[in-house]
Formats: sequence, structure tokens, C-alpha cells
Amino acid sequence: MNALAGFPDGFEIGVSTAAYQIEGAVAEDGRGPSVWDTFAHTPGRVKNGDTGDVACDHYHRWPEDVALMADLGVDAYRFSIAWPRVQPTGSGAPNAAGLDFYERLVDALLQRGIAPLPTLFHWDLPQALEDQGGWLSRSTAERFAEYAGLVADRLGDRVHRWITLNEPVVHMAEGYAWGGGAPGKSLMFGALPVAHHQLLGHGLATTVLRERGATEVMITNNCSPVLPATDDEADVMAAAVYDSFHNRLFNDPILLGTYPEMLGEFLGDLIRDGDLATIHTPLDALGINYYNPTRIAAAAADADLPFDPRPIEGVPTTAFGWPVVPGGLRDLLVGLKDTYGDALPPVYITENGCSTPDGTDDTFRIDYLRGHLDALRGAIEAGVDVRGYYIWSLMDNFEWREGYSQRFGLVRMDFETQQRTPKESYHWLRSALAAR
Ligand code: FCB
Repeated sequence: MNALAGFPDGFEIGVSTAAYQIEGAVAEDGRGPSVWDTFAHTPGRVKNGDTGDVACDHYHRWPEDVALMADLGVDAYRFSIAWPRVQPTGSGAPNAAGLDFYERLVDALLQRGIAPLPTLFHWDLPQALEDQGGWLSRSTAERFAEYAGLVADRLGDRVHRWITLNEPVVHMAEGYAWGGGAPGKSLMFGALPVAHHQLLGHGLATTVLRERGATEVMITNNCSPVLPATDDEADVMAAAVYDSFHNRLFNDPILLGTYPEMLGEFLGDLIRDGDLATIHTPLDALGINYYNPTRIAAAAADADLPFDPRPIEGVPTTAFGWPVVPGGLRDLLVGLKDTYGDALPPVYITENGCSTPDGTDDTFRIDYLRGHLDALRGAIEAGVDVRGYYIWSLMDNFEWREGYSQRFGLVRMDFETQQRTPKESYHWLRSALAAR
């Protein structure tokens, strides 16, 4: 059966990328440094010393990439806009050359009938803002809204749908709590202000985008269904704590206008009058990135954290070692509907995909995608309003601290020659799209 059969009319199939992971050209046309430039150039931070200096050289080769998407036949393309191209130091007048790049890209997509879905922040904060506290500082939320306005002033006549932030939970955790990603801080619970300030930035930017004619504004949250390791009360409790940090800290304030009770005490002093109303500004849709469920046990008494992640056994794993559990996508979506009811807006899966070893045949990726599309169909049949599915990623790219070692693409990249070669999964998806 065609993997794309049985989805509602207008259901969107797209591919996703992010600026720092593909663009390269980090010092061109006035782009300022971002936290990821700094982090990747710090010895020992990224595998093999890889950086995004060149990446897929998409900044120059974008026409080829748009042609690949057009040939693939996708409906939409989710990419991110690099804040440091638009505002090299994170504030002040826009850098016209930076905006020109995204304007050319958007025009080319529209010409090919591919709907652009830009994300305004996919982790590449201008370094100058990080030097003033980054997302630990409330003023970054205000700067973000200004930046969103500058982008929409230029593109808002052609782009009406926007994603504000990508995965604020992962940016908080990796960037500020454990230090596995830029800006590389290890503040543990001290990272929580990063959650509030990103959420505030999202809320402020939503209003700014609407004022400039946006018709569909969303945020992309990384959501993971949480499984207690056993039925033991302590494991169940630890799973609920993890769920609060990973999922509810970001979904509750946006959809309900409240923080999960058990986290309120950590955030208390940061929250000013009106903040929660700003964060709760109505959303048109929720973007969800799904990769896998998380299995949680109670932590040892002397552990740093109140939960202990455990492996999920008996399932295949990706090259990254991530467990493959397609049914988790259905469970996640049905669970969100149960939790939020009518407060859950339409959903887009804005990322889902897997890394596989280079040079292997591509059946693993095809099976992965087919399995997750089946699960998604199941969620829709169970009553969840899902509008689209975006595959991570169009092409192999700079996978953050894993450098170029994890390959998620439908298109293989030769990073020496920049040659792009569609994989079997690309051809499979192309046939499925053509046969819809
Ligand atoms: C997500 C990120 C994306 C990519 C995938 C594999 O968490 O949003 O940039 O790295 O993981």
C-alpha cells in the first residue's frame, strides 16, 4: 500500500533542515558569529573537531537543494533563519544582505509550488547576545520579538506561516543544563530561566508576527512519551517528574497558561505579571518533533537528578542508538489530546527521521518512515487533528555535537565534494508522493 494513502485531503508532506546544520558561509555577507560557531570551534566540544563552517554549503548551493525538493515532490519545506545573518550582533538595524538570502530562497520555493515554513530560532543565538546573558536574560526574549518583526517586515508579504522556536526544551537542556550543545553551560536546575525566557520570546513574537499578517503561528516542541521503567510507585513518580520537565514545562504554559505545579517553585521569581498571558497567546498550530519515547526509573538517593533514564529494550536502534518505537508517535498524540482536549490546536509533526550508517542500503530509513506514517494515520483515526509530517532531514548535515557522523538525510552528502546523491528513501518517497 502507498505509505501516504489514507491521509486527509491537504495533508502536508515536507522536509526539514536548520540553518547552522546546512548553510556554511558563516562569515559571508555580514553574518555575525553565533553561539554554535563559538562552541564548534572550542576544542573537544564537537566530535572530530567538526564545525558548521562549510556544512552543506547550502548558502551557495540552495538552487540545487530547491531543485531536489521540487523533484522529490514535497508540499512544504521547513528551514530556519539564522538570527546572526539578520542581526549580526542580535540587535539594531537589519543586515539587508542576510535577508536577501532568505528572500531568494522563499521566492524560489514559491515558484516551485513548495510552501515555505521558516523557523525563526533553531539554536544559533548571536554570540553578542550570549555575552549579555543569552536566554538566561529576560531581555533576549524582547530582542527575539524585534528580530521576528524585522524578518516578517521583509518576508511577511509572501510567508504567512511561521515557527517561532525549535525545541526550547532541548536548547535549555543541552545548551544550559548539561552543556552538550552551545552555549555549553552546565547549570543543571539553574538553566530553568532559559525555559521561561524562550517561552516569553515565543509569546511576544507571536503577536508581532500576527500584526504583520501571519495566519499560522506555531512553536515546535520536542515531545517524548514517558514510560515508567516498572509499575513501582517510585518509578511512576520519577516518570511524572521527567514528563513535567521535558513535555509539560513547554506545553502547559502555551496551551493552558500555567506551569506544571511541581516546577512553579523553581520559576516563581522570574514570572512577572502578564507573562503567562503572553505565553498563552492563542496558537494556530503546535509543531511536534518526535524521535522516541523515554523510559524512566527512580534515581538513587544521592543522584544529581530526580529521574534516571533507562534503555528501551527489544526494539531496533538507529545509528545514534535511539530506539525505534513508531507506536510512540500515536501514543504521544493521543495522550496530548487526552491531556489538553480542546486546548490542543492542530498539530504538525515538524521533525521525524533516523540516522543510519553511511554506505548501508536504505531499507532501515524506509521502514522507519513507513512505520511512523502508519502510527500517524492511527492517531488521526483516533481523532487527533494532524495536518502534516516533515521528515528530518532533506540531506545529511552537521548533527550538532556529533558533527558529520550522524546521517539523517534522504539525500547523501559527500562533504568533501559537496556532491548530493538521493538515497533509496528519497526515491521511495518520490514515488509515494507521485502516486498520491
Ligand atoms: C532535533 C533537532 C534537529 C536535529 C534532530 C536530529 O532535536 O531539532 O536539529 O538535530 O534532532
